[in-house]
Amino acid sequence: MPTPQLETERLILRPLAMSDAPAIQRHFDNWNIIRHLSTVVPWPYPADGAETFVRTQLDKISAGEEINHWVLVLKGGDGEAIGNVHFRPRASGAKGNRGFWLAEPYWGRGLMMTEAVTAVNDFAFLTLGLDHFYVSNAATNEASRRVKQKTGAEFVGFIELAHHDGQTKSEKWIVRREAWLGRRLD
Ligand SMILES: CC(C)(COP(=O)(O)OP(=O)(O)OC[C@H]1O[C@@H](n2cnc3c(N)ncnc32)[C@H](O)[C@@H]1OP(=O)(O)O)[C@@H](O)C(=O)NCCC(=O)NCCS
Repeated sequence: MPTPQLETERLILRPLAMSDAPAIQRHFDNWNIIRHLSTVVPWPYPADGAETFVRTQLDKISAGEEINHWVLVLKGGDGEAIGNVHFRPRASGAKGNRGFWLAEPYWGRGLMMTEAVTAVNDFAFLTLGLDHFYVSNAATNEASRRVKQKTGAEFVGFIELAHHDGQTKSEKWIVRREAWLGRRLD
């Protein structure tokens, strides 16, 4: 299904567009973000890294690949992308089904990414009707772990996955529909 726009208290999650490339380039070309990510991401980040990435993603989506790719936009702001969440409902690789990053000036404002992930979990379970999906992070990535802990992920175990900062020990988590719906009723 086409990626719908989602909303949280402070954010709009808008489907990725070619016009987002300059803002993504500006915010994502940052070692403090990329060091936490898998070595699949190029580093040093090329000058056309975001443009290439956005085009490739949009081409895959047009070709029918199931990828939900949102940019995060502050409500009441200038509409610029300040982060990203992507979700591949049927992917089965070690990286899991979801990835996210937020522009550094917005880190630690409490709940920003937690809010976005909550909306994506609702989409996964209430709209797509998935039973479960998997997510992962470098074992040293405490902020990412906290977001998972706060959004219903259950720790499965450690896996090996290369990250830019040299960390290969990674945590694998499962997010289950039953548990998520139970939390929503609490
Ligand atoms: C991970 C990331 C998206 C978190 O965004 P955020 O909006 O700051 O997240 P939230 O505010 O919703 O929650 C972050 C939690 O981690 C905690 N945290 C943040 N930095 C931390 C650190 N260095 N050590 C320990 N905890 C940390 C925060 O205190 C908060 O927990 P709390 O609510 O219990 O206080 C952001 O740090 C980021 O983009 N990092 C780089 C990219 C990345 O790591 N992506 C994920 C790859 S798996």
